[in-house]
Amino acid sequence: MNDEVGISELRQALRQQLESYRRAGLTHLPLADRVLTFPGTADVASTEPAVNEQAVVELPKVPEVAATLETPSNPAVETVPSQSLFGEDSGGTASDLGNWGELDDAERPAALAKLANRVAACVRCQELADTRRQTVFGIGNPSARLMFIGEAPGRDEDEQGEPFVGAAGQLLNRIIKACTLTREEIYICNILRCRPPMNRNPTDQEAANCREYLDGQIRIVAPEFIVCWGSVAARNLLGTKSSVGRLRQQFFTYGQAQVMCTYHPSYLLRNPSAKKDVWEDMQLLMRKMDIQLP
Ligand code: URA
Ligand code: URA
Repeated sequence: MNDEVGISELRQALRQQLESYRRAGLTHLPLADRVLTFPGTADVASTEPAVNEQAVVELPKVPEVAATLETPSNPAVETVPSQSLFGEDSGGTASDLGNWGELDDAERPAALAKLANRVAACVRCQELADTRRQTVFGIGNPSARLMFIGEAPGRDEDEQGEPFVGAAGQLLNRIIKACTLTREEIYICNILRCRPPMNRNPTDQEAANCREYLDGQIRIVAPEFIVCWGSVAARNLLGTKSSVGRLRQQFFTYGQAQVMCTYHPSYLLRNPSAKKDVWEDMQLLMRKMDIQLP
């Protein structure tokens, strides 16, 4: 009898936890006792949790990056020093987020879900909070090697609560496929988590307000590589005024991630001739990630 009560509580807690992960856009759920610890079910939870080894995210190891793949940095561009992300001089917008990669795979889903809950209630940008249908937190593998950062949700994203699901997202999906990757194995988010009215550019204040969330996602996922799609992402993340044309084809450092900047898929929809440049950028990135392209 006690067992039955315990199991129904466990089911309920599991449902709630899975729902919070779904809301946070998680596509992978590493199963381990750290994650499957439910309140009020001590007796049940203290028995061996059923860990499905198949469900644990296996990340391919990154080999030592060949020095020959390094593109010389553009001297006109300031590379963000690895330390600055969490230090005093991180633009005054990022909070102290702790150490890079301090979380293990099992801890990331709950950390992202907690952050997503804070984002869903955020009213730092009053205009955006008043006009959004919902916040658009992010989607993907909480242990992704590769993170994509876009600009801000548009109409489709505001409706669906997921980044890059509109026309630009369809093109992004084709780029992902060409890289032999899937949307679910990377982690996708934006500079802003709310749609700016009429899709106007984010203001500096809005980007600053949202920076704590972006840096939180970066810190939790701790990706090895980041792609900044378009000038809003590139300029905000790296704190530079350089154009995408000058930033592309080289790697910058943010925290412990190597950052590549390239043209935004929306820009490609208006300027299809730039697709070949993006493909060159993806080829450079895949080489650096040691992912073979056919
Ligand atoms: N453009 C972006 O930059 N991000 C999205 O999520 C959608 C379109
Ligand atoms: N300008 C932008 O805003 N985005 C790009 O991707 C390229 C130029």
